[in-house]
Amino acid sequence: MTHLTLVPTANPFMKWAGGKSQLLYAFNKRFPAGLKTGEITHYVEPFIGGGAVYFFITGQFPFESCTICDSNEELILTYRVIKESPQDLVECLATLESEYLADNEAERETQFYAVRDTFNRNKSRITFDTVQPDWVERAAQVIFLNRTCFNGLFRMNRNGGFNVPFGKYKNPRICDKKNIHNVSAVLKNTRILLGDFSSCRPYINAGSFVYLDPPYRPLNSTAFFTSYGKDGFTDADQQRLAGFYRELDTAGARCMLSNSDPKNENHGDTFFDTLYDGFTIERVPARRIINSKGSGRGDINELVITNYENR
Ligand SMILES: C[S@@+](CC[C@H](N)C(=O)[O-])C[C@H]1O[C@@H](n2cnc3c(N)ncnc32)[C@H](O)[C@@H]1O
Repeated sequence: MTHLTLVPTANPFMKWAGGKSQLLYAFNKRFPAGLKTGEITHYVEPFIGGGAVYFFITGQFPFESCTICDSNEELILTYRVIKESPQDLVECLATLESEYLADNEAERETQFYAVRDTFNRNKSRITFDTVQPDWVERAAQVIFLNRTCFNGLFRMNRNGGFNVPFGKYKNPRICDKKNIHNVSAVLKNTRILLGDFSSCRPYINAGSFVYLDPPYRPLNSTAFFTSYGKDGFTDADQQRLAGFYRELDTAGARCMLSNSDPKNENHGDTFFDTLYDGFTIERVPARRIINSKGSGRGDINELVITNYENR
């Protein structure tokens, strides 16, 4: 059966820690057969982040509907603005971009810190659960900061402030008009949830394919990277997630979960082997940047855990 690409090709609009672009080929080989037969009509991604897998898979398969979720309120606000008001966002971003590109480096740095200060100052005034007129400007600031900050990280401190310093880029793409409109088109059939991964539960059934990419379990004490939001993702959360996975399995959903392999560091660490006992656990090679200094770069395995055999 030939599959047409029914939606425009869209790409992640944010650089996001833990982005899965490099693993798409390995994942593609492991997607369930029900995607091709049309048995699966609903795609769910409870830890959406930058959405590398979401944009890839929705470009391959014409889902009737999708559900995406993340606990990062700034990220979800930005997805919602792109879905509902792409043109307003493009105009706001174009203004930020033209100022930035016309500036010299010192002026760019001044603009960066001015946007960052405004962003942090306004935090307490933003209502994240219902659409507000100030959301468009907020989303533009999120994308601007992501594109111009050091290493393209989106890291919040304990108070929920954005604290990444200025990054020196020659010609950053701040306003990618075409992609924002394409992302908006892809999001039209997508329910966007803010909150814990468990919020997706009511929407998952036997016609769903669920891809889960939780924050990594630290590979070692120095290489941790769980600072996507104010709160970390603990071993207790990983255990709660495994319970969720089993519940989805019982409901008949097809599930694929990825995580760092603790055996990269400690061969005796069977944390995930125990949690996901009974499911198909594969180890696929990955190259991951696990700290901002770059000293943690190298080849490691990624765990891919599926609850189906058919590919
Ligand atoms: C590894 S990243 C996902 C990366 C994504 N697959 C990509 O390609 O960009 C994990 C995501 O989980 C989110 N997160 C952390 N705790 C969460 C929770 N309890 N429920 C839902 N999302 C959570 C983080 O904000 C982060 O965006």
